[in-house]
Amino acid sequence: MTMRFGIPRQSPTMTFFVDGKAMTAFQGDTVAGALFAAGIRAWRRARSGEERGLLCGIGICFDCLVTVDGQSDQRACQTLVEPGMLVETNLISIPVNGTGKDSPPC
Ligand code: FES
Repeated sequence: MTMRFGIPRQSPTMTFFVDGKAMTAFQGDTVAGALFAAGIRAWRRARSGEERGLLCGIGICFDCLVTVDGQSDQRACQTLVEPGMLVETNLISIPVNGTGKDSPPC
C-alpha cells in the first residue's frame, strides 16, 4: 500500500517519463495529477514568461498544456497516464517582443 496526500492507495503504479525523467503514477492518474503529486507545480510558460500549470483542473483553461507522445498541446488535466508515456514540458521562456511582455492582441 502507498500513500498519496496522506490517503492510502492500493491501485497499481506505472512508470512514465517527463522530460526524460522516470516518474511513477497510479492507475487512473492524470498527467497533471501525477506531476502535482510529485511536487511539480508549473510545466510551461505563458508568452509573458509566467509559469503555468494546473489551474482549473477540469479542461477549461488550457493552462496545463504538455506534449504527450509527440502530440503537442495536450491538456495534462484531461490526459490519463499510460505506462511508458513520454511527456514533454515547456518551461522555456519565449520572449514575444523582446521585453518578455505579451504583445498587444491582434
Ligand atoms: S488545468 Fe485547466 S485545462 Fe487543464
